Amino acid sequence: MKALITGSAGFIGSHLARSLLLDGHDVTGVDCFTDYYPRPFKERNLQSLVGEAGFSFIEADLQKLDLPQLLARHDVVFHLAAQPGVRASWGREFEIYTSNNILATQKLLEAAVGSQLHRFVYASSSSVYGDTPKLPSSEGDPICPLSPYGVSKLAAENLARLYHSAYGLPTVSLRYFTVYGPRQRPDMAFHRFLKAACMGEEITVFGDGLQTRDFTYVDDVIAATRAAGERGQPGGVYNVGGGHRVSIAEVIDIIGDVAGRPLRVKRLGSEKGDVKHTWADTARAQADLGFAPSTKLRNGLEEEYTWIRSVYGS
Ligand SMILES: NC(=O)c1ccc[n+]([C@@H]2O[C@H](COP(=O)([O-])OP(=O)(O)OC[C@H]3O[C@@H](n4cnc5c(N)ncnc54)[C@H](O)[C@@H]3O)[C@@H](O)[C@H]2O)c1
Repeated sequence: MKALITGSAGFIGSHLARSLLLDGHDVTGVDCFTDYYPRPFKERNLQSLVGEAGFSFIEADLQKLDLPQLLARHDVVFHLAAQPGVRASWGREFEIYTSNNILATQKLLEAAVGSQLHRFVYASSSSVYGDTPKLPSSEGDPICPLSPYGVSKLAAENLARLYHSAYGLPTVSLRYFTVYGPRQRPDMAFHRFLKAACMGEEITVFGDGLQTRDFTYVDDVIAATRAAGERGQPGGVYNVGGGHRVSIAEVIDIIGDVAGRPLRVKRLGSEKGDVKHTWADTARAQADLGFAPSTKLRNGLEEEYTWIRSVYGS
């Protein structure tokens, strides 16, 4: 496979690139090092890729590249580049979300029209659901994002669907549910909690701690993403979640256990845009992609904690 991975210096993109390279595939990574979080994290992610046979990297904004020429050299696109983060997506910042999440995706899809791509996999998000009346969420359920970020991810997902129906582009959208593991973004809760455990600092928890999330270990996400690039239903949408939901309060207890000391917690009110619960029905991904998440939350947290200690010291 000759894969193009957008957002390849990021958390999930760098794991995906590494996984494909280990199996002998050619990978081109594109990333422009947006300043959503500090560049050294992304450079560190890339260290595991640079110099590997079959890997090449382009530092560029997707919107400034000659995309048709780039796509002609690849057979699968994994489009992971985006401005992430629910809380930061309100107000003036939304312009960045429209640019990196919607406009960049539309340009990539437009450039892919008429190409020979086998699959165009788009990294969507559980945030498209909002507060669903029914749990677990299935792909056919009503969707009503609660944050501008969720709106931008849904818009791009809708574009992917449109380019499939209008032009036959083999797009596949994956709704990732809170991904964790080594290299997790520094704004994400597990990273913040594990760092605090490592440094003996207090953590801030938004809301009452009873909100639940379906957490998905990054290796399981990579397995689903690769399967989507091989045999995802063109035009299809899949939930990619760990299949269980856990409250933030329970996570804090497990992290205290993993780190060998309880966390000190400061509570703040819930933030606008935060949904109360997420939980994925993954029956469709199981049937079509052979998706079978296998990492237990405690084991995944131990892996992430080992990585956190390597970043911040003990
Ligand atoms: N991490 C999660 O829990 C999660 C959950 C749901 C969906 N997702 C989606 O998965 C994808 C990857 O998320 P992540 O957590 O690895 O985020 P990340 O921020 O670590 O990676 C995204 C990368 O995209 C790059 N990028 C952004 N805009 C770009 C552009 N215009 N041109 C080139 N590069 C650009 C950034 O520099 C960054 O390195 C995103 O699309 C995100 O919306 C992630």
